[in-house]
Amino acid sequence: MLNFTFQNPTRIHFGEGQIKAVAKEIPANAKVLVTYGGGSIKSNGVYDQVVEALKDHSWFEFSGIEPNPSYDTLIKAQALIEQHDIDYLLAVGGGSVIDGTKFIAAAALFEGDDPWDIVAKQAPIKQALPMGAVLTLPATGSESNGGSVVTRDGCKLPFGSPLVRPQFAVLDPQVTLSLSDRQIGNGVVDAFIHIMEQYLTYSVNGKVQDRFSEGLLQTLIEEGPKALASETKEDLEIRSNIMWSATMALNGLIGAGVPQDWSTHMIGHELTAAYGIDHARTLSIVLPGVMKVRREQKREKLLQYAERVWQITDGDDDARIDLAITKTEQFFSQMQVPVRLSEVDLTEKDVDTLIKNLTLHGMTTLGEQGEITPEISREILMQAL
Ligand code: NZQ
Ligand code: ZN
Repeated sequence: MLNFTFQNPTRIHFGEGQIKAVAKEIPANAKVLVTYGGGSIKSNGVYDQVVEALKDHSWFEFSGIEPNPSYDTLIKAQALIEQHDIDYLLAVGGGSVIDGTKFIAAAALFEGDDPWDIVAKQAPIKQALPMGAVLTLPATGSESNGGSVVTRDGCKLPFGSPLVRPQFAVLDPQVTLSLSDRQIGNGVVDAFIHIMEQYLTYSVNGKVQDRFSEGLLQTLIEEGPKALASETKEDLEIRSNIMWSATMALNGLIGAGVPQDWSTHMIGHELTAAYGIDHARTLSIVLPGVMKVRREQKREKLLQYAERVWQITDGDDDARIDLAITKTEQFFSQMQVPVRLSEVDLTEKDVDTLIKNLTLHGMTTLGEQGEITPEISREILMQAL
C-alpha cells in the first residue's frame, strides 16, 4: 500500500427529511447565498424545504448554474456576494451546482488578479467561503470532496482544494425520485467509473481499498438497473444504496493509498467540452477503450475485477478479461448510456479534434503511470469508434 493521509471532514446527514439539518449546520448569524441550477428544485419540493430550513437565517439566492458549470455564469455571483456581505454558501443541486459553488467560494476570496487562474493555472487557494450542500443527484461525489470541474471557452478543467470541500452535505434519497431515467443512468455510471479510476490500475496490495471498491461496484451493478425498472423505480432503499455508493465512490476513502488513473475522465472532459455530451456518457464511451488498450498494464487488476466483481472464473486469462469488458459494456447499455462514439454520431475525424484539444490542455501524460500520451489516447478513442 502507498503512504497516505486521509481526512474527510464533511458531516453527512443521510435519509428522508434531513434537509431540515441545514438550519443547525449554518451559523445563525451567517449571511447565506443559496445556489442552484435550472429550477428542478422548485418543481420537486427541495427548494421549499430549504426555504423552511433557512427561515431564521438571512439569505439570498443565485440560480442558473448550468450542467458543466461555466466560468461566465459563476463569476456573476461575485457581485451578489459583495453586495450582501455573503459569508456562507449553500449549494442545492447535482454535481454541477456543487462544483460551481466551489469555484464561487474560492473566487470570492481569491487574492490574485484573475479568478480563472484558480483553474487555468492551478493558482493556490489560500482561503474560501465555507459551504454546505444539499445533494439532488447521486453521481459525482462532489458533496464530500474538494474537487470541481469548470468550463470556459471550450476548456473543461478540474481544480481542487480541501478549502472548498463542503462542511456538511444532506443526502435525502427521496429527492432523487424526480430524476429522469437519463440522469439516473448517468449518475450510476459516473459513480461506477469513479471507482474504476481508483481500482483498475496495478496492485499495491491495498486489500481494504480493493474490497471496498468491489463492494461498491457490485452494489451499483445490483441496484442501478432497479432504479430504471418501472416496478422498483420508486423504491427508496434502492435509491439510498445508490446515493451512498456514489458518495463513497469519491470521498477519498477508496483512493487513499492506491495508484489512481483518471485518464477516462480527462479524455471524457474533452468530449463534453467539444460536443456537449453529458459527463457520464463520455466516460461510458472511453472506459472500455482504456480497458482494451491498457490491458497489459492493468492485467492483474482486470483479472481480479473479472473474478470478484463479475464472478468470471472459466476460461484462460484473456478470455476472462474479454468477458469482463463485455459485461462492463453490457451494464452501461443496461443503464442506457452509450458505449461507442458512433452512438453519439462522432467519427474518426472527431478523434483528431479531441487529441488536438487534449494536447492543448496539457493532458499528455495520463494514467496511473503517466504513460498515456496523446498517441495512446488516440488508440483508446479509435477503440471506441
Ligand atoms: O439544473 P437543474 O434544474 O437542477 O437540473 C439538473 C440538471 O439539468 C438535473 N437534476 C439534478 N437533480 C435533479 C435534477 N432533475 C430532477 N430531479 C433532481 N433531483 O440534472 C441535470 C444534470 O445535473 P448536473 O449537476 O449537471 O449532473 P451531475 O451531478 O452528473 O454533475 C455533473 C458535473 O459534475 C462534474 C462533471 O464534470 C459535470 O460538470 N464532476 C465533478 C466531480 C467532482 N467534483 O468530484 C467528479 C466527476 O467526475 C465529475 O467530473
Ligand atoms: Zn465523473
